Amino acid sequence: MATHPSDSVIRLDGVTRRFWPGPVTAVDQISLDVQEGEIMTLLGPSGCGKTTTLRLIAGFEVPDEGTIRIGGRIAAGPRTWLPPEKRGVGMVFQDYALFPHLTVGENVMFGLDGTPKRQRKDRAREVLKILDLEAFFQRYPHELSGGQQQRVALARALAPEPVLVLMDEPFSNLDAHLRDQVRDEVVGILRKTGVTCIFVSHDQRDALAISDRVAVMNRGRIEQVGTPREIYKHPESVFVATFVGRTNLLQGRVQNENGCVLTDFGSFCRVDRLGMPNGAQVMVSVRPDGFECCQDGVLTGTILSTTYTGAQIEAEIAFPSALAGTRKLVVHLPASRQYEIGEELSFRLVPEFASVVRNACQTLGFTSPFAADSPVAAEPVSAIPGVEDESREEEEGPEGVVSASPAGTLARELEKS
Ligand SMILES: Nc1ncnc2c1ncn2[C@@H]1O[C@H](COP(=O)(O)OP(=O)(O)O)[C@@H](O)[C@H]1O
Ligand SMILES: [Mg+2]
Repeated sequence: MATHPSDSVIRLDGVTRRFWPGPVTAVDQISLDVQEGEIMTLLGPSGCGKTTTLRLIAGFEVPDEGTIRIGGRIAAGPRTWLPPEKRGVGMVFQDYALFPHLTVGENVMFGLDGTPKRQRKDRAREVLKILDLEAFFQRYPHELSGGQQQRVALARALAPEPVLVLMDEPFSNLDAHLRDQVRDEVVGILRKTGVTCIFVSHDQRDALAISDRVAVMNRGRIEQVGTPREIYKHPESVFVATFVGRTNLLQGRVQNENGCVLTDFGSFCRVDRLGMPNGAQVMVSVRPDGFECCQDGVLTGTILSTTYTGAQIEAEIAFPSALAGTRKLVVHLPASRQYEIGEELSFRLVPEFASVVRNACQTLGFTSPFAADSPVAAEPVSAIPGVEDESREEEEGPEGVVSASPAGTLARELEKS
């Protein structure tokens, strides 16, 4: 994918938005580039600033600082302001926001104001055809299913041929059984039209499945931007490691020039050390896929519990640890055989799924994550979820709950994407 800045459809530079009283810094110095035809997802817990970021791009909010460029033009900056209707941005809201008293056709034509009626109708039919909704032209929104309404909302956003489509939690109102299907349909349509799109989601599964790149947000800031694979395999912070899927947080020490990191459970090589010098104490995130069950592995553990989830089995395994007696780690086992509680298994280490991570202190520019007063250093680190990351303490509500996806689901989503 091209990464030259001139290919950016949208570019944010140091964008900040505060709300009063407080102030609440909803969006804090965000910089982001989205390339033409790219699908980018802003992923993060409730209240981290996702919707505010979309509203800033659409022109429903004014930034306190920073610059927003859309299609090479400054849309918002210190002395510049383009109103929403001049930005060429289509928005799909969480609740679809269709006009209930207008038919499907009229809803789609609504966004084409200023064009002669005949042309508006032709364009509406054309877009509805792409979305396989032609037959519903005369129907009213209440006569459609949730998934169909979702597609009408997308048709309305696409009709004026926007340079950019913004979608705020577009799948959260759909029944679980419909959700994946509608999601895949919508993404298929976006790919077909080649439109650039920014999704907002608090669901890691959706984000990994549909995106070219994901920007993980926390407390108004972007913690990491990367492809779904990069985000899953190489999280750079404790927050990203624990918010996107399950992980095990281990203490480690940078060993040598080859980027090996020695942990209590063995050495993981060629991991990105995030610029840490040799000998540095670091925290390592090892995904459940980082311990692979095999004959004569370097590590032996005992099964404590298993959860069958389809493609894989997610197991808690007790491993001997030089530091803390025994440690419970989460591991993915192949579902092709049965396992007994108490059974001993042998594992090899898969460095691909290990990553040195910064904790909240390091993000703020402090030193070792294992300083004497660090709560993570004092106790054996438990399997995730459950490791307290101070950066998440304030999150509340169902969206803020860090839900680990069932074993195998994330891997499957990654395969699909
Ligand atoms: N109009 C507003 N006035 C005051 N605070 C707001 C306003 N809009 C959002 N906020 C606050 O900004 C933060 C980010 O909100 P939001 O962007 O809606 O988060 P998200 O979409 O990630 O859930 C939250 O703390 C929220 O309460
Ligand atoms: Mg929101």
